[in-house]
Amino acid sequence: MKKTLLFLSAITLFLAACGGSSTEQTSSSSSTASTPTESKAPMEPGELLIVKSDCVGCHHTENKLIGPSYKDIAAKYPATEANISLLAGKMIKGGKGVWGPVPMTPHSKITEDDAKLMTKYILSLKK
Ligand code: HEC
Repeated sequence: MKKTLLFLSAITLFLAACGGSSTEQTSSSSSTASTPTESKAPMEPGELLIVKSDCVGCHHTENKLIGPSYKDIAAKYPATEANISLLAGKMIKGGKGVWGPVPMTPHSKITEDDAKLMTKYILSLKK
């Protein structure tokens, strides 16, 4: 895993370094879009779970929607075991009263392990 990541970021750096001189590399760079440094990193398990769940309907990484943004959540809670358990529990059972009058719906089908993976991902988004 780590090695693959290193390898990928080495390639990204390499592409970024040579990026100035037009595109001899067929089309591979076109999907990488504007920010070559981080945008194409493979998704973490927690992020994948979030993307596949209904969280996106109420949460956005940067902006407040119905629920707080993940970055605001990360800024509020340090990534301690206690906070991870607390927030994972709220994802499963629902939560209210912390960010405003709107409650978060319960997600009783999510397992505790998955909820913790999602929480770890969210809390890793600290600015
Ligand atoms: C129906 C809209 C809705 C959905 C769907 C939803 N949330 Fe929320 N979420 C909220 C709201 C509203 C709050 C703020 C609740 C409060 O003020 O305590 C919140 C709060 C949170 C918090 C912070 C809880 C706290 O006590 O600080 C986390 C973490 C969170 N959501 C994660 C998720 C994840 C992960 C999912 C998907 C499994 C999800 N939410 C799905 C609306 C939603």
